Amino acid sequence: MNTVVYNISDLNNIEAKEAINTAIINNDLVVFPTETVYGIGANALSEIAVKKIFKIKGRPSDNPLIVHLSHSSEVHKYVKDLPKHARLLMDYFWPGPLTLIFEHNGILPDVVTGGLKTVAIRVPSHPIANMIISLCNLPICAPSANISGRPSSTLFSHVKDDFYGLVPIIIDGGPTQIGVESTVLDLTVDTPVILRPGKITKSMIEEVLGIKILENSDIPNESTPKSPGMKYKHYAPKGIVTLVDGQFEEVVKFINSRSEFHKDKSVAVLCPDEYVDLLKIETVIKLGSLRKLEVIGENLFKSLRMMDELEIDYIYIPVISSEGFGQAIMNRLLKAANYNIIRV
Ligand code: TXA
Ligand code: MG
Repeated sequence: MNTVVYNISDLNNIEAKEAINTAIINNDLVVFPTETVYGIGANALSEIAVKKIFKIKGRPSDNPLIVHLSHSSEVHKYVKDLPKHARLLMDYFWPGPLTLIFEHNGILPDVVTGGLKTVAIRVPSHPIANMIISLCNLPICAPSANISGRPSSTLFSHVKDDFYGLVPIIIDGGPTQIGVESTVLDLTVDTPVILRPGKITKSMIEEVLGIKILENSDIPNESTPKSPGMKYKHYAPKGIVTLVDGQFEEVVKFINSRSEFHKDKSVAVLCPDEYVDLLKIETVIKLGSLRKLEVIGENLFKSLRMMDELEIDYIYIPVISSEGFGQAIMNRLLKAANYNIIRV
């Protein structure tokens, strides 16, 4: 397939806008930036279009998609009624990186919701994402634009690697700002539950609602995960990822011993800037300062993808604090490591 790439300035001309609109109306896929990560979008009302997303990503069909809308005033078209807390959160956090789970009203095809009674909705704040949704005047479902299992795409080069030649249009919006996918919050239960942590943290939501909310990990022994995406292997590079937990000096000592340990293999460290000067490993990738977690978030997926480009066999990452946005970062790192964590 011939892929056309548009950059931000192309979007000022009418031909580009028409091409995007036509692609979506014709049930084709468009890759575009959002404020979190790149998304691969399709008309959420078209079963044919949505099925293309699952096929191209290799995504399991029971993992539902997020429906992206241009404005909170559109939500009523797809949900039964607005649950308690919804209005406050929509007014406060939208447009922005918060996805809310509602009971749906059956308008959207089952492929979008994975046959669940609920639907995930968000209003993105990225001007290009918003422009596309408004342009077509349709709900757009858009999972992260990566082949299933790979780290989400935060750079144009990532979406190019995964989808060039497979989709008709890719929009190059440069690096995405947040770098970690939206917070997913379930509003269909009495006390809202965070199903996936993100930039909008638990305490930010609690402050707005004036109540305590829950996290998925607070709910014991759930046999079927509430957020189906949680159960799949995700973000993992080809090499073996190990998270290292412990006192700063012990972590440094352990990681420095790894080159010798793995002798003929390639070893890399992804770490906060504070570790860099002390590490004696050939490949050290700086993630950003521990005092600037938002920078670590921005660099996270790009650094994980780099591990495959450099063909690294063993990847070590110091554990960072799970406070605030750190929780979203640790959530992704734990998955990238397949929960392989060593305490030193
Ligand atoms: O930031 C984001 O949310 C990005 C950008 C492109 O908007 N999108 C994204 O989509 O991360 P995706 O498909 O990669 O992740 C959606 C997550 C999955 O974990 C999925 O299981 C969950 O949302 N989800 C979708 N519908 C759900 C539902 N009805 N109930 C519970 N979880 C749901
Ligand atoms: Mg994803």
